[in-house]
Amino acid sequence: MLEIWGRNPLQGNVKISGAKNSALVLMAGSLLCPKDCRLRNVPSLVDISRMSQILTSLGVKLTKNGDVLDIDARDINPTAAPYDIVSQLRASFFAVGPLLARFGTVKIPLPGGCDIGARPVKLHIQGLQAMGASVLIESGIVHADVKGSNRRLQGAKIYLDYPSVGATETLLMAATLAEGETTIENAAQEPEIVDLANFCIAMGAKIYGAGTNKITIVGVDRLHSVDYAVIPDRIEAGTFLVAGAITHSEITVSSAIADHLVPVIAKLEAIGCRIINEGENCLRLIPGELKATDIETLPYPGFPTDMQAQFMALLCFSEGNSVISETVFENRLRHVAELQRMGANIRLKGNHALIQGVPFLSGAPVMSTDLRASAALILAGLAAQGKTIVRGLHHLDRGYEDIENKLRKLGARIERVTESN
Ligand code: EPZ
Repeated sequence: MLEIWGRNPLQGNVKISGAKNSALVLMAGSLLCPKDCRLRNVPSLVDISRMSQILTSLGVKLTKNGDVLDIDARDINPTAAPYDIVSQLRASFFAVGPLLARFGTVKIPLPGGCDIGARPVKLHIQGLQAMGASVLIESGIVHADVKGSNRRLQGAKIYLDYPSVGATETLLMAATLAEGETTIENAAQEPEIVDLANFCIAMGAKIYGAGTNKITIVGVDRLHSVDYAVIPDRIEAGTFLVAGAITHSEITVSSAIADHLVPVIAKLEAIGCRIINEGENCLRLIPGELKATDIETLPYPGFPTDMQAQFMALLCFSEGNSVISETVFENRLRHVAELQRMGANIRLKGNHALIQGVPFLSGAPVMSTDLRASAALILAGLAAQGKTIVRGLHHLDRGYEDIENKLRKLGARIERVTESN
């Protein structure tokens, strides 16, 4: 568990790690390549280790040296992904597109739901079927095959009912080796999608329009080796900017791309902080009196759902009433009860949280309910009176690299201790 003594001002700079949600899909994307790939700026996270386990179970050879990951997916078996590991990592489903595109067949367990929602994969499967795959789901296992002599996916016109990040990534990867042209309309536009497209283009793929709501992919016969660096993690960067705002501390965050953080910066400014872009991917946060504001989570470039919990912690300390509406995931407000334990004044109404700012929160023992909720509880603990104990760190370690040391270097009083039975 983490022990946090609140109300210590922060100062200095924090360097942001590579993006979890990009590194995971780029690792799956390397399955498209019959040669070796090198990924740089890969964070050390539980989710990355799990994706490595899944790739290894398929026969991929992996070597991680610091933040450099060497991947050799020459000789692999597309039907070998084991349930016990796949069930622990939703992102494992990213392997479906590349394996089907390269081998014309794949067998992989359905990822199933998680703490924040049902997380169906219907849009992924509908898109693959539009490209000519026959998909059977039996006893929780997805069997997908492409008939025909060369077992090759066919280019198709695909319209997504919802701009799903995962579905866009699956279909983009599948289309890189398909026969002919694929268009994905109402595509997701997240920076991680652009990073994936750039990674595939660097391997020889033909992709146009990534980062817009229409992506066009012209299939090629094969891809080649690549040496590619993952983008910085915009959600980690946003989390540290909120750490500065909630402790009224002036800090800088480096390796943070301002263009990826437009909605986050806009809301921090609406709340009363100033963000200075110091160039070279370095952002300075100047704290201010915290004012209430309303937030609605939306697909990019709307406000990211992965920053919702952290901003809820911040708005607990603001002057006035705020409304946060979570529209992307159906079960992502469970941190409310833990913040209330610390004295927050929050009322829930469906997927809306009505937050009335209070002068202070009190440290308390709290339980993380999912990855971003764990970050929100740490932030609340940094600003609360007294000591906060955060449990459920298996959530935190999935997506934050060494967060307590990074915070300690900024001056926070935070310690990871083992609970004695
Ligand atoms: C990615 O999840 C991220 N995960 C999530 O980050 C992030 O919250 C999410 O995108 C939205 O930005 C990774 O990249 C590994 P979606 P993904 O498909 O791809 C529904 C974090 O904290 N949907 O855009 O699963 C779905 O149920 C994690 O780092 C369908 O209905 O997100 C959800 O309500 C959490 N049918 C909504 O769309 C489908 O076939 C958004 O999901 C697919 C999705």
